Amino acid sequence: MKKLGLGILGSGKGSNCRAILEQISAGKLLAEVRLVVSDVFDAGILDIAREFRVPNIYLPAGNFRTRLEPKVEVELVRLLQEAEVELVVLAGFMRVLKEPMLAAFPRRIINIHPSLLPKFPGIEAWKQALVAGEKITGCSVHYVDAGIDSGEIIAQRKVAVVPGETPESLHERIQIAERALYPEVIAKFCEA
Ligand code: GRF
Repeated sequence: MKKLGLGILGSGKGSNCRAILEQISAGKLLAEVRLVVSDVFDAGILDIAREFRVPNIYLPAGNFRTRLEPKVEVELVRLLQEAEVELVVLAGFMRVLKEPMLAAFPRRIINIHPSLLPKFPGIEAWKQALVAGEKITGCSVHYVDAGIDSGEIIAQRKVAVVPGETPESLHERIQIAERALYPEVIAKFCEA
């Protein structure tokens, strides 16, 4: 059976990336991570890629804060295409993708976000949910479009807010839910 080629983009510790790689290693996900890309030189996600012997690259973002410099984004497309990536998986990637990536991978870029979208897009979504007094929050996997966490929702998992909850404790349980949900969603792309 043919494996689905994944490219994982992240800026942080990479726990979702690890969960995906573990599922692949366990033979539970018919996919192959063909490239891990980070815009942060010392991001944990790059260490995880090395640990799993997956091709990886640090891609300096250039002179922008929230997006990639256009020529860098064009280079990112080239790298992913050269690696024969079929599905781009954002796992804590802190840059907004623009036209070069969106045009090169239509409905082939997905993201995981720590809230039940459309509620609480943007940063520290678990904190936003707590401040708003939500009783239930969770995580969402969605297609990436030109907006911020606004693309079509593919799947969600609920997480209850418990008495005495802190932002940290809530975030931790949402991340546990993320690490279960993301590989399940990717498995559906493998079957398609
Ligand atoms: C996740 O919590 C995800 O919801 C958000 O970024 C975080 C990445 O965590 N988009 P990790 O780097 O996968 O541990």
